[in-house]
Amino acid sequence: MTTVQSDENRDRKNGLYRRVSDELAAHMRQGWADTEHSDLRPAPQAAYAARRRAELSARFPGELLVIPAGNAKVRANDTHYPFRPSSDYAYLTGDQSQDAVLVMEPDEDGGHRATAYLRPRSDRDNGEFWLDYHGELWDGRRNSLTENEQVLGLPCRDVRTLPDRLGGAAGRVRLLRGYDAGVEAALDGRATTEHDDEFRVALSEMRLVKDEFEIADLRFACEATVRGFEDVVRVLATGEPTPERLIEGTFFTRARVEGNDVGYASICAAGPHATTLHWVRNDGEARPGELLLLDAGVETRNLYTADVTRTLPVGGRFSPLQREVYEAVYAAQEAGIAAVRPGAGYRDFHEAAQRVLAERLAAWGFFGDRPVDEAYALGLHRRWTLAGTGHMLGLDVHDCSKARTEMYVDGTLRAGMVLTVEPGLYFQADDLTVPEEYRGIGVRVEDDLLVTEEGNENLTAGLPRHPDEVEAWMARLRG
Ligand code: GLY
Ligand code: MN
Ligand code: MN
Repeated sequence: MTTVQSDENRDRKNGLYRRVSDELAAHMRQGWADTEHSDLRPAPQAAYAARRRAELSARFPGELLVIPAGNAKVRANDTHYPFRPSSDYAYLTGDQSQDAVLVMEPDEDGGHRATAYLRPRSDRDNGEFWLDYHGELWDGRRNSLTENEQVLGLPCRDVRTLPDRLGGAAGRVRLLRGYDAGVEAALDGRATTEHDDEFRVALSEMRLVKDEFEIADLRFACEATVRGFEDVVRVLATGEPTPERLIEGTFFTRARVEGNDVGYASICAAGPHATTLHWVRNDGEARPGELLLLDAGVETRNLYTADVTRTLPVGGRFSPLQREVYEAVYAAQEAGIAAVRPGAGYRDFHEAAQRVLAERLAAWGFFGDRPVDEAYALGLHRRWTLAGTGHMLGLDVHDCSKARTEMYVDGTLRAGMVLTVEPGLYFQADDLTVPEEYRGIGVRVEDDLLVTEEGNENLTAGLPRHPDEVEAWMARLRG
């Protein structure tokens, strides 16, 4: 074996540096077919992304706008968590490339020139494609810059040239922070936190009203989620205890087969676990006679997610007490859904649902002698309703979360918004203020609503909600 003369001939696999021979390095450099495509079609989202960029451009004339996709997060050493780009980058480009950056430079006409800075194909000459553990030989072929120009419909440049480009730019800069430390370092001292916060708010607010592409994608996310819930009902049918992890894995299989992933960690909460709002440990089991609260959503390949909850009787039939609690939540959800329409206040559906829950709690005597109006005004019901009644939904499960209060929580519903309506009642197992038989019961019902010109459309109507329909649906799926 010849002694290696170049430092570049190193195998960086597993973070260990192992020298390779010049002969092998030369051998790996040549003999590869040209696989470049010249006839790729634009991605379906490309035209929508261009419109979204035009809207952003109009909001920030004369300013340099920088939106990174972000980098892969290290899990340990040289292994990483699955990469997901920043939602704003995906929204403005339709692209999902790691390490990418969208740059919008102000032009002479008062608009912007958008460029995607991307990792190009691995360079065979310097060996990156096989000597780097994350070169194309290991991680898979990437599109070339020219191919990406065809797919994304915007100019693409090598991301390694970006620091120089940013270093030379003049004028005000707006940067989406928190995703790419390298880009932040390149803009150090140029972008201010105040301007960047305003930028983040503007991006969040742009995403409040969904376009046609987004609505179609959310519709698909909801349909696939319905199928995932059906899969879970089938695995509950054995009559034996079903591990919460099996329920989680069953739904995850559907999410991976039809989509990209789950949009958030699935909550597979059986029995008293249902009273823990973020039960994602999923290490228990669902036994016949108990309720299973399943809160899960498929994220599509375009990264839009559903967010759905059903509370199911594991054995197929609600007990009278389970049904009583379920019917209270169902009535609250019906009142909430009825309040979703354009022009209504965002808070209206929350108030409508919470009011119904408070009345049921009063009827069960949970406020003692205190009249329901007084208990409601004091917020005493919240001991058992715990959470808000919903949130915006889209690329993120809690979408548009940086929008100003006056645009969101204190704002008005508009056609094209998509939101969840998800009232619940949660009686902790150790809550001595409720009758013993209620303790350990948790019920939530959550659907995804599109605000339409006429009122709303329930995108998750494919899943039964009324308790009779839930029982009939489960019986049908169990065969
Ligand atoms: N699954 C999170 C939520 O319902 O908001
Ligand atoms: Mn949910
Ligand atoms: Mn939700």
